[in-house]
Amino acid sequence: MGFRAPWVSSFGLFLIIIFLFSANGVVEASSRRLLHRHHHGRGLHAAGFRPAKLFVFGDSYADTGNNKMNEASWKVPYGVTFPGKPAGRFSSGRVLTDFLAKSVGLESPVPYQGRNMEDRRFNSGMNFAYGGTGVFDTTVAYPNMTTQIGLFKQLIDDGTFSAADLASSLTLVTLSGNDYSAYTAKNGLIPSALQEFIVSVVSQLGTNLKQLYELGARKVAVAALQPLGCIPRFTAVNSFQKCNDTLNSLVGFHNQLLRKAVSDLNNQTASSTFVVVDLYTSFMSVLNSTDSTFVDPLKPCCVGVSSRFNCGTVDADGTKKYTVCEAPESAFFWDMAHPTQAGWRAVYTSLSAALEQQL
Ligand SMILES: *[C@@H]1O[C@H](CO)[C@@H](O)[C@H](O)[C@H]1NC(C)=O
Ligand SMILES: *[C@@H]1O[C@H](CO)[C@@H](O)[C@H](O)[C@H]1NC(C)=O
Ligand SMILES: *[C@@H]1O[C@H](CO)[C@@H](O)[C@H](O)[C@H]1NC(C)=O
Ligand SMILES: *[C@@H]1O[C@H](CO)[C@@H](O)[C@H](O)[C@H]1NC(C)=O
Repeated sequence: MGFRAPWVSSFGLFLIIIFLFSANGVVEASSRRLLHRHHHGRGLHAAGFRPAKLFVFGDSYADTGNNKMNEASWKVPYGVTFPGKPAGRFSSGRVLTDFLAKSVGLESPVPYQGRNMEDRRFNSGMNFAYGGTGVFDTTVAYPNMTTQIGLFKQLIDDGTFSAADLASSLTLVTLSGNDYSAYTAKNGLIPSALQEFIVSVVSQLGTNLKQLYELGARKVAVAALQPLGCIPRFTAVNSFQKCNDTLNSLVGFHNQLLRKAVSDLNNQTASSTFVVVDLYTSFMSVLNSTDSTFVDPLKPCCVGVSSRFNCGTVDADGTKKYTVCEAPESAFFWDMAHPTQAGWRAVYTSLSAALEQQL
């Protein structure tokens, strides 16, 4: 993530287009599918899909240590819950990758950047996700999705991973919005242009998914965009009390296109390789839950003392410029963009039945 610029305010005609693809429609449709599956399905842990390895591409929602040591993910208080010290995750602890790995019976795969450390084995696959990245180049100097896939290809070419590894593997792909924050930082928000940009982001994602298929991946879980309008960066203006529906409608448009792209790819490949991980619905249902363990669900645990500072910022003499809540396990959001470990656990619990059914 790392949203560096707010979306600008004028939406005009664009909204009319967006409403045709309204987020509500997406949410309702997928809850219906979910109910349907519960009813006729094999039950919560029955999927029993046991891939040999897990390969991961994307951004901070999946990264488990690829960013450089000078990034927030490697600084106190990141990692306070797990592993108890900063370890390269943009959270208090475990992230989506870790929960998915566990649920399919694997250790969380080694980050690509740590592959040369002694005693590191690649038995459970590898994680190529870099915080801050997108399908296109963003504001960070880390590999975009095409380049991440290129790194994977090198390891296939040099025999680190085999065709058999691929055929029996699971792949996770996350795309959490960095393309959009980079785009709006540079261009502002011109409605017609942004609409085109959303189309091009999903189209590029489709190209990347196809590359994974061509490399031999046969089960690929692709994250839908989470409700950006609910993340603390965009709810700070109302003291973390309500989501921004306008932004969530834009997310609905992205997700609608994503579903179409995924279904077209499955059709083209005459397979059911690609599965959508519905982060939109799962975030919403956790945030909306009435019996939630999260007392003030939109409020992040770790925040800068003013808007000039972030979670983890210290000044020149080492004084903390942030505060951390007493109980990170009762907060959904960790910082301005990322869930806590407890947040990710709740999200994963919410989506696991539907996901495991499709794997
Ligand atoms: C929603 O976000 C947009 C873009 O940042 C902003 O212009 C708009 O004022 C926000 N709406 C509300 C109700 O906060
Ligand atoms: C990804 O990064 C590479 C290397 O910097 C660049 O050549 C390429 O154009 C980028 N791809 C996209 C789709 O932006
Ligand atoms: C798949 O694509 C073919 C043509 O490419 C089309 O005729 C068919 O209706 C498509 N099936 C689905 C389920 O979309
Ligand atoms: C969350 O609750 C609000 C208010 O009741 C409702 O408008 C919204 O549709 C709900 N969202 C989801 C995903 O259930």
